[in-house]
Amino acid sequence: QSTTEVDLSKIQPGQAIKTSFRKQPLFVRNLTPAEIAAANAVPVNTLRDPQTLAERTKAGHENWLITLGVCTHLGCVPLGAGEGENKGPFGGYFCPCHGSAYDTAARIRQGPAPKNLVVPDYTFNSPTTVTVG
Ligand code: FES
Repeated sequence: QSTTEVDLSKIQPGQAIKTSFRKQPLFVRNLTPAEIAAANAVPVNTLRDPQTLAERTKAGHENWLITLGVCTHLGCVPLGAGEGENKGPFGGYFCPCHGSAYDTAARIRQGPAPKNLVVPDYTFNSPTTVTVG
């Protein structure tokens, strides 16, 4: 199946779930206002892979951060999507393989990964459902 439908209705603010898209892990995160503010407070020109949170989300849905759960270093699955998992020093995701840390916009902030977690193509079908792919 080339597309994946995700029900957002049960994902609480501050929670991230792990599902799959085209056999790869997919992270879907409902950012809190504090997490959005933290992402927007970072000067974009200081980033290794400069992108704003707005460029990584959809207008009007900035709290929904949808990315592949694949570290851009060597492809491990980062921690941070799931109950009690390690979000790392920048509050987003943390790759335990070689210590790459991603922020609340899933942007690379520390460690060997060269790029932000990839945002796949997706569209909102309703306020609480998206189709990825
Ligand atoms: Fe994630 Fe190396 S695969 S830090």
